[in-house]
Amino acid sequence: MTTDSRIIIALDYADSAEAIRFVQQLDPERCRLKVGKELFTRGGPQVVEQLSKLGYEVFLDLKFHDIPNTVAQACRAAADLGVWMVNVHALGGRKMMETAREALEKISDRPLLIAVTVLTSMGERDISEVGLTGSPEDNVRHLASLTRESGLDGVVCSPREVAMLRQNLGADFKLITPGIRPDWAQKGDQTRVMTPAEAVQIGSDYLVIGRPITAADDPMGALTAIEAELKPFNV
Ligand code: C5P
Repeated sequence: MTTDSRIIIALDYADSAEAIRFVQQLDPERCRLKVGKELFTRGGPQVVEQLSKLGYEVFLDLKFHDIPNTVAQACRAAADLGVWMVNVHALGGRKMMETAREALEKISDRPLLIAVTVLTSMGERDISEVGLTGSPEDNVRHLASLTRESGLDGVVCSPREVAMLRQNLGADFKLITPGIRPDWAQKGDQTRVMTPAEAVQIGSDYLVIGRPITAADDPMGALTAIEAELKPFNV
């Protein structure tokens, strides 16, 4: 099943049965789902297969980072699982990203291939400690350009980086943003957040949203409220 929803719900569950129970109240025509390292490591590829069987498009957020051949084969394995989108670390370099893209190119209806630039958990000090120069923003800009040159489809970024990246990288480069909080939701551990409407207005293509929906008393009600917020933008 395909959907034109921009909403990707982050399934940050430790237990695959719990994740599937939660998902059963959703609707694959109204959202996509993100499976990350915790759920995948506990639940295995079967979780992804189950979600696909329920009709959902899955973003497999495993952030591959290894030698080019290994990452390419891992991306190939993700494609064989039928995922909609998969990601790698841009710090793996041009050769790694190009090899991954080439591995997916041969596949009809291939997954989108995107990259993570600088983890938003890293500040100025962390950046210089690992030997990178410049600000986090300089590194994000540089690595996002490298990602585009390597032929990938987009990057995960903070909503605060969207305007800058959209301007540098053009309209067809996909920007995927976590750190989204509707006005009515708890911020939790997210600090620099944007509302769904703000993020789409400045040019985000897809919104990764976890707890505002997964921790809501009424998850479908929360999804409906976010859809209503996005409606004026015709999305
Ligand atoms: O619950 P919440 O909406 O904060 O979930 C956001 C999701 O996006 C989580 O899966 C989190 O790991 C992920 N993420 C993030 N910030 C990043 C990259 C990924 O919040 N910079």
